[in-house]
Amino acid sequence: MTVTQIGPIDTGTAVHRPRRSCLAVPGSSPKMLTKAQSLPADQVFLDLEDSVAPGAKESARANIVSTLLEGDWGDKIRVVRVNDWTTQWTYRDVIHVVEGVGTHLDCIMLPKVQSAEQVVALDLLLAQIETALGLSIGQIGIEVQIENAAGLVHVDTIASASLRTETIIFGPADFMASINMKSLVVGGQPPGYTADAYHYILMRILMAARTNGQQAIDGPFGRVKDVEGFTEVARRSASLGFDGKWVLHPSQIDAANDVYSPSQEDYDRAEEIVDAYAWYTSAAGGNRGAVMLGDEMIDEASRKMALVVSAKGRAAGMTRTRQWTPPAD
Ligand code: GLV
Ligand code: MG
Repeated sequence: MTVTQIGPIDTGTAVHRPRRSCLAVPGSSPKMLTKAQSLPADQVFLDLEDSVAPGAKESARANIVSTLLEGDWGDKIRVVRVNDWTTQWTYRDVIHVVEGVGTHLDCIMLPKVQSAEQVVALDLLLAQIETALGLSIGQIGIEVQIENAAGLVHVDTIASASLRTETIIFGPADFMASINMKSLVVGGQPPGYTADAYHYILMRILMAARTNGQQAIDGPFGRVKDVEGFTEVARRSASLGFDGKWVLHPSQIDAANDVYSPSQEDYDRAEEIVDAYAWYTSAAGGNRGAVMLGDEMIDEASRKMALVVSAKGRAAGMTRTRQWTPPAD
């Protein structure tokens, strides 16, 4: 797991490697597996599940192993999505891929998770493979997809089931089917309902993720040609605090990287708050705990909020465009 803790233990400020854009790549398509390497997504997940037909599962495993071993994935987070535990494929997916690629993999994504036990089962299997390969235990992380009513109801115990778990992901397509939502557009708002149909689901996932120091990732938006629609949906989860979103097509990557990064103004302001607050709380600044900074009162909680934005900005490679200097008295 790659978690950097900023300051005292406070899962709200735990920062992982950025996952603003998580690109889905069918394991059955050698062409897309090659193309994905050159795209600016923070994460790729090579799929063995729903984008791969049953008859192509075995050859997709082989494609994924060779592309992870031989491809140039740069500093992208490399994830493989296996089939869920209710199928006959899961154990072979995990063993074939992890034994085949060893350290050339960051996480296994487990879809359609319904209980903590399903996460524990994957954790134990990974520990055996890591031991057999001489890897350190826990080296391979887990990404959990919440895609049905049972998964959401149990999301708190699912999120805390394994220290390997790095992200909790919303899977809207399967979820919409699971609850009989009246729409056929993956990740879009169902017609006839004026509020945000996903608010409750997203917030439950976000609370479970943050309680356990994990990232919360929004799922796909099916209309890949509608980048405006994608951006609108992404803005909703980004505003709540989500860290990133799946992208199904190269056209969605820039929009995701943009929406899940702080704006330049917010990033500059966050760095300013951190600097100013450090000075005001020092002896030189008068040991003050609540001060005016511009038009706004800031205190320790403002510093925490600023740390989150500044960490996300730095992780995204942003640089500040202005410096803060103490007032001359
Ligand atoms: C993703 O797997 C989804 O079901 O939306
Ligand atoms: Mg799904």
